Amino acid sequence: MAHRSLSMDTLAIHAGQEPDPQHAAVMEPIVLASTFGQPEPGKPLRYEYSRSGNPTRHALERCLAELEGGSDGFAFSSGSGAALTMLSLLRPGDHVVCGDDVYGGTFRLLDKVLKPMGVSISFLDMRQPARVAEACTPATRLIWLETPTNPMLKVFDIAAIAAIAQERRLPLVVDNTFASPYLQNPLALGASVVMHSTTKYINGHSDVVGGALITKDPALAEQLRFYQNALGAVPSPFDCYLVLRGLKTLAVRMRQHVTNAQQIAERLEQHPRVQRVHYPGLKSHPDHELCGRQMRGPGGMISVVVGGGEAGAKRFLSALRLFTLAESLGGVESLAEHPAIMTHASIPRAQREAVGIEDGLVRLSVGVEGLEDLWDDLERALALLGPAQSG
Ligand SMILES: Cc1ncc(COP(=O)(O)O)c(C=O)c1O
Repeated sequence: MAHRSLSMDTLAIHAGQEPDPQHAAVMEPIVLASTFGQPEPGKPLRYEYSRSGNPTRHALERCLAELEGGSDGFAFSSGSGAALTMLSLLRPGDHVVCGDDVYGGTFRLLDKVLKPMGVSISFLDMRQPARVAEACTPATRLIWLETPTNPMLKVFDIAAIAAIAQERRLPLVVDNTFASPYLQNPLALGASVVMHSTTKYINGHSDVVGGALITKDPALAEQLRFYQNALGAVPSPFDCYLVLRGLKTLAVRMRQHVTNAQQIAERLEQHPRVQRVHYPGLKSHPDHELCGRQMRGPGGMISVVVGGGEAGAKRFLSALRLFTLAESLGGVESLAEHPAIMTHASIPRAQREAVGIEDGLVRLSVGVEGLEDLWDDLERALALLGPAQSG
């Protein structure tokens, strides 16, 4: 079925999910078989072995590919598994140019796994795209970025960085986890590969850990298919089913995440117990204009510096009731966390502070609950803090 003219709302519900010819089941069946019968040795029908390919996974991979405007999608057992599979294309001596503000686990993968294998990495603030060109060396083989970034919510210009990558024939990988395909499509802006932790907005219900890579480059797709099968970090059919189910409401969820987050960010910015709010939907955000050009909405993530430094942040987090103090993001329920102690603890303090992850920084994943209920919770917890200037 040709879907490209359909809206994102419709694609999220139907893409990759053809009518079931046997039972007319309206939901994608979960095919648990690990292996598939072959009519002749070496001549499998559609599927052979579930690490290499599985019908439920295939439906998810098709849906993700269509949502991102790619030709091929690959699902993984975690976002980190997706990242590792992508990074396995590198060889000793290769160099990676990476955004300076990435998920702590992505930093750890590059710094503690790839580096000892002989890959060098330059981390840099990509808000001036020219710096990306300057950082490229003859050994550079990959450019990697997240936007909006985790947790500082900086916005990098994908089209400008993609142009630099294309000039040098380098693949650009964009981790689109924070935006989701509903708000941003990096392939349309010139990126070679989109990465997702499907654990987050794509599944949206905090009950699956998963990942994905999507591309429209046939040569990269061929390599990723080989590495997905060779490395084997594939999701179970049941997890694929759950992600497909979660995906169906992506559009409605994202609209509500954005509405709630925009309101909360504006109110936090006015609050006397708050020092700074990082949210690209605010006019005061340095990348606000770029966000408006590049994204269909500023997303559901807010980072905020509360008064009282680390002690203030801990007090605030412990006082929240509706916001659960937990790692992760992108679920229907609101979460709050302390990046320096939690998600980004694997980044050395000096490097963390250089990107702005200070001890009073709290990251909020604004869910789809009632706005006033969320605001009451935040206001009550903020009231326990001293004035912001004391931080
Ligand atoms: C932006 C981003 N990329 C990648 C990951 C890693 O994904 P996973 O936890 O599914 O391995 C995360 C997890 O928090 C993330 O926030």
